[in-house]
Amino acid sequence: MPKSRKPSKHGTPPRKLRSTEWFGRHDRDALVHRSWMKNQGLPHDLFDGRPVIGICNTWSEVTPCNAHFRELAEHVKAGVLEAGGFPLEFPVMSLGETLMRPTTMLFRNQVAMDVEESIRANPFDGIVLMMGCDKTTPALLMGAASCDLPTIGISGGPMLNGKFRGHDIGSGTHVWKFTEALKTGEMKLKDLTEAEACMSRSAGHCMTMGTASTMASMVESLGMALPTNAAIPAVDSRRKVLCRMSGRRIVEMVKEDLVMSKILTKNAFENAIVVNGAIGGSTNAVVHLLAIAGRLGIDVTLDDWDRLGRDVPCLVDLMPSGRFLMEDFYYAGGLPVVIREIESFIHKKALTVNGRTLWQNCRDAVNYNTEVITPLAKPFKKQGGIAVLRGNLAPDGAVLKPSAATPKLMKHSGRAVVFESIDDLHARIDDPKLDVQETDILVLKNCGPRGYPGFPEVGNFALPAKLLKKGVTDMIRISDARMSGTAYGTVVLHTAPEAAVGGPLALVETGDRITLDVPARKLQLHVDEAELERRRARWTPLPPHSDRGWVKLYCATVLQADKGVDLDFLVGGSGAKVGRESH
Ligand code: FES
Repeated sequence: MPKSRKPSKHGTPPRKLRSTEWFGRHDRDALVHRSWMKNQGLPHDLFDGRPVIGICNTWSEVTPCNAHFRELAEHVKAGVLEAGGFPLEFPVMSLGETLMRPTTMLFRNQVAMDVEESIRANPFDGIVLMMGCDKTTPALLMGAASCDLPTIGISGGPMLNGKFRGHDIGSGTHVWKFTEALKTGEMKLKDLTEAEACMSRSAGHCMTMGTASTMASMVESLGMALPTNAAIPAVDSRRKVLCRMSGRRIVEMVKEDLVMSKILTKNAFENAIVVNGAIGGSTNAVVHLLAIAGRLGIDVTLDDWDRLGRDVPCLVDLMPSGRFLMEDFYYAGGLPVVIREIESFIHKKALTVNGRTLWQNCRDAVNYNTEVITPLAKPFKKQGGIAVLRGNLAPDGAVLKPSAATPKLMKHSGRAVVFESIDDLHARIDDPKLDVQETDILVLKNCGPRGYPGFPEVGNFALPAKLLKKGVTDMIRISDARMSGTAYGTVVLHTAPEAAVGGPLALVETGDRITLDVPARKLQLHVDEAELERRRARWTPLPPHSDRGWVKLYCATVLQADKGVDLDFLVGGSGAKVGRESH
């Protein structure tokens, strides 16, 4: 029979455990629910009314960043059992950044649907989210947020530092460097093959401050994971301890009725935005946090990103903007040190999953390496954060990461050299006859949420080979695409509305003048309105990408970048209640 429950310490009366609707009865349906579960060797006392904890696992061999999650889940289960809970692991669709085509972002919302429906349909009282490779983190948070049960996040942890011929090399960041070196002849193919294994030499996700490390830091700064979750290397035994402690803690969270919406408040999102600036985090966090907030009905906007991040210096000297990697970051003290340094920017009372405030978790953090995590008074870069640009080329906004850009290009006017699509770019970018100068601005269209489809990470496309050979290292690039968090450059991204829905980007032609003025947050196309109107009248939409299946549903309902790229009918939540039995 269900055990009696004490009142919640977080202000709401204790809820009857959801799982008792399945296991705590004596009728035909409860017999069915228990009997089939017992075919796994589960003793009867596990069905006695203890909290049932769902471990939502994105393990997959085609998601190499999450390939160690089966083992980590066993440590979570041990913790759940130690705390008197009943762990049940379940798989959801996984998203492997390195293999999936055309881009994992096409499927983020599909995974979020899978997570949401899997949680709601099953007898879970609390949820553990196992997240790692880029999109697995926002997808799981989004789906779980729409159910709003007690939930704790665990990140899989970064790979060990890449080591190549005596130097540290970083995931992604050195992919761009090496492939450019191959183009200029500085590297040979055999060097590149050797570097492959040296870059990815342990379990874990990208170990630069790319999207995975950024999102793991977002999880911790939102208060959704135990302290130090973001940086412990995947293969460090302390990652296993964190899993075990999270397993123990989620059982307590169920007893306290500490649901997601009590942690994910507007203040929590503001803390995460500030932390993103201080770590030099990925631009991808912008769309993901907008989407997660949307699931909870919290009003987070693009302008919050600019307003809150503008004065936050970047303290963390990590690739792609800096020198070090996540392993160094962890040994220096990890995210709690950063949060302690930016004390004046954060909401100290924001609640976290361990029942303590963010400040209580971080106030005693010690910085063991001030080269890796610089003090606020002497920051690695004065300007962290994400700049949100507006103007007639991006009426609904575009983003740029100042800490990854070239300072002299932050205010620049130039001639547009336009590529109509990714195929057009591939066909012409390395053509020796391409009419392009280093002062030009490269424009790439039709790579937004609908145009590609799926909003790929192609915004940091490589410079023309002939300019690379001349030693040019950066040019302004503007697109409606995203950029890998491991990439760098003066790259304007997420331009909204995108070209494929007839946004102004669709109207740019080679030879137009464009001004980028980051200090003034401006992105302006110098073409008069009458001429733009003529071009608008000539513009024709792309043919549909598919007449069936997920791609059709996605293209018909996906929101633009400034709204988080969720599907319009998935915004908000439906709670965890299910009205009907299955039999
Ligand atoms: Fe998985 Fe970078 S490819 S985190």
